[in-house]
Amino acid sequence: TTPLRLGIAGLGTVGIGVVKIVRKKADLLQARTGRPVVITAVSARSRDKDRGVSLSDYAWENDPVALATRDDVDVFVELMGGHEGTAKAATEAALAAGKDVVTANKALLAIHGQALAEQAEANNCVIRYEAAVAGGIPVIKSLTEGLAGNQIKRVMGVMNGTCNYILTRMQDAGLPYDKVFAEADALGYLEADPNLDVGGIDAGHKLALLSAIAFGTKVDFDGVELEGIERISIEDIKLAEDLGFRIKLLGVAQLTGRGLEQRMSPCLVPADSPLGQLKGGTNMVVIEGDDVEQIVLRGPGAGEGPTASAVMGDICDIARGLRLPTFGIPAKVLVSAQAATSNST
Ligand code: HSE
Repeated sequence: TTPLRLGIAGLGTVGIGVVKIVRKKADLLQARTGRPVVITAVSARSRDKDRGVSLSDYAWENDPVALATRDDVDVFVELMGGHEGTAKAATEAALAAGKDVVTANKALLAIHGQALAEQAEANNCVIRYEAAVAGGIPVIKSLTEGLAGNQIKRVMGVMNGTCNYILTRMQDAGLPYDKVFAEADALGYLEADPNLDVGGIDAGHKLALLSAIAFGTKVDFDGVELEGIERISIEDIKLAEDLGFRIKLLGVAQLTGRGLEQRMSPCLVPADSPLGQLKGGTNMVVIEGDDVEQIVLRGPGAGEGPTASAVMGDICDIARGLRLPTFGIPAKVLVSAQAATSNST
């Protein structure tokens, strides 16, 4: 049997998590997919850094574009992040060279997803990005596969663990926003640009991706109404608590008579509801479909193991030969978010 050969760009927390799984679970991966899953080449900013795992078996590329287009790479695994520059160039180069892509890059797909999906389909490639939304929770697979027979009514949830950590900690410890923000920073929770987290942008990227899949619309991040958590005070939290509510950064997407509505904003949720009880870096996604009624998915939204778990699921799907369009239906069939209405679908 032919092995599936991976080229991994980005050896941070997630990249190293993937390397460890491929090394440790070779037998399991082969049993599950029917073929060996191997790494042939890797790339990262610094070659010398000690990452606690040996990379000597793999070819090294300084340039992710070179990695993405190597003859001995079948799947380009993009774990660098960033929506312009290298991540975008390398992803486009991989697709142009006929490689499949697995990525955790929510920003890249939320902003350039339509163009990348079209490029992928034109080249008979697939793009998989389970790790981009809600970390370890297989929410994209749930929508594209398990719920494929449903008309989706609504998708909502908590999709940024850092904001949930900050809000929960303010609540539980009675600490002000600035103090908890500094804690989150010290713990390494924040994105390189913290505004992506606390401004609701990162969660907005994720919501835009889920909306596209759920409603068959072109991914429309600009259409997400965004409000972050920067102005939530301890007084707001206490007042909500007195009334039996918690404040959560909640995303909601649904089709209305006037097009797709996508909102990411701090919301009051009942303290004793599943969303109200959600603690720390955990994520929760609630999906409502006409036949399934409601399902609730909960799990870790970030971290080495959970995010690498999602990346590996995508890699296994490719190894098994599963070739779904990027957003569940072919890119040219997706309608604009403004044109989609609850009356028409
Ligand atoms: N900054 C993100 C979060 C990381 O806190 O949820 C996972 O996408």
